[in-house]
Amino acid sequence: METIKRRSWAEPFKIKSVEPLRMTTREERELTIKEAGFNTFLLKSRDVYIDLLTDSGTNAMSDFQWAGMMLGDEAYAGSENYYHLEDKVKEFYGYTHLVPTHQGRGAENLISQILIKPGQYVPGNMYFTTTRLHQELAGGKFVDVIIDEAHDPIAEHPFKGNVDLQKFENLINKVGAEKIAYITIGATVNMAGGQPISMENLRAVYQLASKNKIKVVFDATRAMENAFFIKKREKAYENKTIKEILLEMCSYSDAATMSGKKDLLVNIGGFLAMNDYEIFEEARNMVVVYEGLHTYGGLAGRDMEAMARGIEEACQFNHLQARIGQVEYVGNRLIELGVPIVRPIGGHAIFLDAKQFYPQLEQLNFPAQTLAAELYLDSGIRAMERGIVSAGRNKETGDHYYPKLELVRLTFPRRVYTQAHCDVTVESVFEVWQNRKNVKGLKMIYEPKYLRFFQARFEKL
Ligand code: F0G
Repeated sequence: METIKRRSWAEPFKIKSVEPLRMTTREERELTIKEAGFNTFLLKSRDVYIDLLTDSGTNAMSDFQWAGMMLGDEAYAGSENYYHLEDKVKEFYGYTHLVPTHQGRGAENLISQILIKPGQYVPGNMYFTTTRLHQELAGGKFVDVIIDEAHDPIAEHPFKGNVDLQKFENLINKVGAEKIAYITIGATVNMAGGQPISMENLRAVYQLASKNKIKVVFDATRAMENAFFIKKREKAYENKTIKEILLEMCSYSDAATMSGKKDLLVNIGGFLAMNDYEIFEEARNMVVVYEGLHTYGGLAGRDMEAMARGIEEACQFNHLQARIGQVEYVGNRLIELGVPIVRPIGGHAIFLDAKQFYPQLEQLNFPAQTLAAELYLDSGIRAMERGIVSAGRNKETGDHYYPKLELVRLTFPRRVYTQAHCDVTVESVFEVWQNRKNVKGLKMIYEPKYLRFFQARFEKL
């Protein structure tokens, strides 16, 4: 008798509203990518078929969230939705004080300015583009203290986002704790491939930091996805709820920056949260300068309501299982086809290893930038470079940073694409993999000063 393997999960929602997609021809795409300077950030959305540029702000909201938008209290001060959000942040993340911001980098700006004195060091478990830039603009120096495995695309470590405690301790011994503004802990670690950090490591980092009176600033942007991995991979947590895990994770930090545009299933929003009243007082004052009054921080009341409701939905196990399960589905199919991707498969994205696609290219011929353009040319699928272009230049020497990883990120918006879209994506990536031999690289012809990957332009060699 034939038996079939039963699926372990399906999306815990059905579709109520749809948005048409536009397909283009290869000839059209040859023109549009050239016009965009071979930078997928410069493509018009209408020229994109399946948009895997980012999972940031691209989520589909639920009917419950949309209904909440009608309950937006658009008062300049003291909006009802602010207090709702404050309650939810306290309940799920555990921090006492909340300062809303328009998105994650708004919070990064505030905390960097408040805590960093010029010349101080800011260690972290790998850099993130906007986070490091705000640290540098505030006069800080970022130091990478992630474990070595994180820089190796095929090292099968279950918690590749972990801090190397020895590296952190060495920095403390070398420069002195008073020269360290704080340590940033990302969960999951975006630039390492959406890799999680373990609870054990979070706890140990907090202990070491606290012993040296160093604050821990948690980048909670994808912390719920990280909590899912802890539940799956860390024995002591298999019977805990995502909510319990998240609360414990946050308890090992003093403050958190948050881009609600990821985990929290909204299109805009973020916050800074903390326990320390003095930091809160300063942040609440400073937010007025950069974002808006402390009870809206650059957001409409309805945006805060959608985010408050998003917190509850995002923290559901079934949601996370389908979200991370979709990424895993694509990753496993690519692995079966022999396409080189970062392993293990991360939480929000599949990262293609562009160095293995194009060993014929020097890093300064931009292998990952090239691969993202080739994928777009093949099918209209939009991905993102995460290699030397994203890494930028050393502020002091002016040289390029040469990251070990040269990756293309296929990032999955939450609750947006179906399994058929996933199959089409896999087929296109495989086609590009098969045609990898004669591909030539790119030359950068325009380089902006800050976060160059967003607006840099290239030409075919
Ligand atoms: N921290 C992490 C880990 C992020 O991934 C992002 C944004 C931010 C902070 C900044 O938040 O965009 O709301 O200002 N990541 C997006 C991405 C842009 O595509 O990975 P933001």
